[in-house]
Amino acid sequence: MDLKQLYLKRQSTRKYSDRPVDDGLLREVCALAALAPSAKDSQPWKMFAVNGAKAREFAPCVQLGGANKWTDGCPAFIVIELDREKSDEKIGERFSHGDFSGNDIGLLAAHMVLAAEWLGLQTCILGIRDEEMIARFLGEPEGSRFPLVIAAGYAEEGYPVREKDRKPFDEIFRSIK
Ligand SMILES: Cc1cc2nc3c(=O)[nH]c(=O)nc-3n(C[C@H](O)[C@H](O)[C@H](O)COP(=O)(O)O)c2cc1C
Repeated sequence: MDLKQLYLKRQSTRKYSDRPVDDGLLREVCALAALAPSAKDSQPWKMFAVNGAKAREFAPCVQLGGANKWTDGCPAFIVIELDREKSDEKIGERFSHGDFSGNDIGLLAAHMVLAAEWLGLQTCILGIRDEEMIARFLGEPEGSRFPLVIAAGYAEEGYPVREKDRKPFDEIFRSIK
């Protein structure tokens, strides 16, 4: 797929078909996402693919305060864990604005959703989540951080392709010469 088409085609998908998602495909998406850049190449992340019946059990982890109810029908999730040790060890205290982990995780997520779309999977980035519940679900230590979760699957047939509703470009871009 042409890169521009890929950027236009990727959209947050909130209704999925029952078609199961192959474990290998989720792995491939994560392997491509892992090529994302990160500050000092710290790669402060881990990824967990939650698929099939386990995804149905996982959905409440991203329904904090009654949000994201639509995820009940989501066939797969990729959970992004922030690996704090990796982030600290590489950045250290050498820079006053040393915490780039938010940027790193955002870049990972951006690579992930585009890689998924390219491989034929639709996604939705989820910022609403219950990190304590996720830690328990995954058996990770208490206090582990899970900044983003990616819902993934095949869009329900007929799912509308929305026009991008972005700010007028001239409002957000200036050419300095
Ligand atoms: C950091 C972040 C957190 C988000 N959290 C949620 C969420 O919890 N639930 C949801 O339905 N969409 C969530 N979204 C999706 C945005 O609403 C969506 O990307 C935005 O409206 C633009 O639409 P598009 O992705 O279809 O282009 C999130 C997106 C980002 C980048």
